[in-house]
Amino acid sequence: MRRINIKVDTLEEWYNTLIREKKLIKSTQSPEDWRSPLQNYHQQLQNIIKESDSYTEFGVFQGHTLAIALLMNPKRIRAYDIDLSWYYEHSAPLFNSYAEENKIDFITYEVDTSTCPIIDETDILHIDSLHTYEHCKKELARHGHRVKKYIIFHDTTARRGLFKALSEFIVPDWEIVVQNTKGVGYTLIKRK
Ligand SMILES: C[S@@+](CC[C@H](N)C(=O)[O-])C[C@H]1O[C@@H](n2cnc3c(N)ncnc32)[C@H](O)[C@@H]1O
Repeated sequence: MRRINIKVDTLEEWYNTLIREKKLIKSTQSPEDWRSPLQNYHQQLQNIIKESDSYTEFGVFQGHTLAIALLMNPKRIRAYDIDLSWYYEHSAPLFNSYAEENKIDFITYEVDTSTCPIIDETDILHIDSLHTYEHCKKELARHGHRVKKYIIFHDTTARRGLFKALSEFIVPDWEIVVQNTKGVGYTLIKRK
């Protein structure tokens, strides 16, 4: 995946520039025009964050989905990635100042999510880290009990191991509420 260095003044501009640069929307479309599978995924994230206080993300990369979460202004955000070097250099200043201005309790952790200390309680866990069956299985076994409402998994069509891991995890407390197979796909599960 390609990282794009964007120099703008606000997180809103950063996010809108990134989706244009990634050609997720054409320059003639507005950012609100959700059409591609990835845009649909972003809208799904917004829908669940809207009804939640806390959001935890596994797999930050340069911060695309993390920006979506921040811009929804939940009370608390925790974000994890095994390598945050690029994010710290290029994205963190803008992300941190947005969190500070909007009074969001926001912490990032540079760790392996399969072995790190167990996460704080959270309404939402977004899993978009190492897309293997073994890794996802370990993440769910370690942190799944700390999630109160939703777990959303990206790439569940492209990476079938992820779907296998979540299918084994859901019984008996969780149910699949969305299984979107377009593009790389995503799956949303909800606590019963
Ligand atoms: C697909 S990218 C995340 C994309 C991001 N959500 C976005 O919106 O652009 C996957 C990320 O998972 C991270 N990762 C890979 N293995 C990991 C591990 N064992 N623990 C935590 N993060 C990991 C990578 O460093 C990478 O940044």
